[in-house]
Amino acid sequence: MLQVEYNGEIYERKKDESILSCLIRHGIEYPHSCQAGICQACLAKTKEKESIESSWQAELPHTLRAQGYFLTCLAKPKANFQLSSVEDAECDSVAVVQDIKHLNHNVTQIKLVTDNLNIWVPGQYIHLINSENVCRSYSIANIPFQEGYIELHVKRVLGGAMSNWLWDENRINTAVRIRGPFGKCYYNNPNNNSFDIVLAGTGTGLAPLVAIIKSAYEQNHQGKITLLHGGLNDNDIYYADEIRELAKENGSFHYDPCVLNSSGQFPVASIEKRILQHLNDVKNTQVYVCGPKEITNKLKRAAFIAGVSSTKIFSDAFV
Ligand SMILES: Cc1cc2nc3c(=O)[nH]c(=O)nc-3n(C[C@H](O)[C@H](O)[C@H](O)COP(=O)(O)OP(=O)(O)OC[C@H]3O[C@@H](n4cnc5c(N)ncnc54)[C@H](O)[C@@H]3O)c2cc1C
Ligand code: FES
Repeated sequence: MLQVEYNGEIYERKKDESILSCLIRHGIEYPHSCQAGICQACLAKTKEKESIESSWQAELPHTLRAQGYFLTCLAKPKANFQLSSVEDAECDSVAVVQDIKHLNHNVTQIKLVTDNLNIWVPGQYIHLINSENVCRSYSIANIPFQEGYIELHVKRVLGGAMSNWLWDENRINTAVRIRGPFGKCYYNNPNNNSFDIVLAGTGTGLAPLVAIIKSAYEQNHQGKITLLHGGLNDNDIYYADEIRELAKENGSFHYDPCVLNSSGQFPVASIEKRILQHLNDVKNTQVYVCGPKEITNKLKRAAFIAGVSSTKIFSDAFV
């Protein structure tokens, strides 16, 4: 048996078992979510930097790699290994839940206040760790430095540990920890080029897309912007009034919500077919897709088949 030394305690690890699985098997409530190297919730740190295999650091930012951070769900060291949790580490900030507002039957808007709001990039995602040590990823839905808080949109999931914790308005004024930001979905146009943008997502996949649109206009984006938001039913389309306001302020912005079953409020259409109607000048269009993995993959595929280069398709799937 191999050994893992975690915060000074020794645990036996089975061959081919990840460090995360080993800690969970021993009853440690180590923060985690996807267990597939995607959400980065299971981050840990080691002093034995030379023992880290590059695959354990997946898409971690360079700054964290250099400091010896890695993902415990991917780490299967070939020898005994020592690690520490990232609690109170360089990459964590304390935030306070300033406001909780239910936006529809299952989506909550969360506002977090914290120091250094300018490091939180609109559209990227953060790790939120609550007082029960549950860690989940949420996309930034606004421009934090401009608005004075970080806004998140959280879908309430049946039996979900974090989404139900955040649904409870008694959490207002509670302290949480946040980490990040991470991810590929953000507006990046350092040379002020002119191009069109098509953004598509279902459910709370809307959150990063709204942030990217706000960020684009804040940086004087030239070119058309089209937002598609899909849902099963009319009541899944939330935030419509706020988005219509954004469209009023910016003539080049077009908002196109659609649902699979309508009672008359929104048009009936499947979002992966609807996106094709907006992909006209494919050589000059960037595409952003976010939300549940299955639909995100379908939207990416639709954009690629329509002729958008994979280098111009940006997405963070909610796994
Ligand atoms: C990069 C990234 C960004 C994300 N951004 C957002 C965001 O902006 N807004 C947001 O709402 N979520 C987002 N998520 C998903 C989020 O991290 C959580 O997975 C989600 O909130 C469920 O957590 P929970 O603790 O409530 O449920 P858990 O306790 O993790 O799960 C409880 C049960 O619900 C199931 N379940 C989990 N998620 C879903 C789901 N989405 N739909 C249906 N069933 C589910 C699980 O399989 C399990 O059976 C993102 C995920 C990633 C990886
Ligand atoms: S639990 Fe390890 S990356 Fe998600």
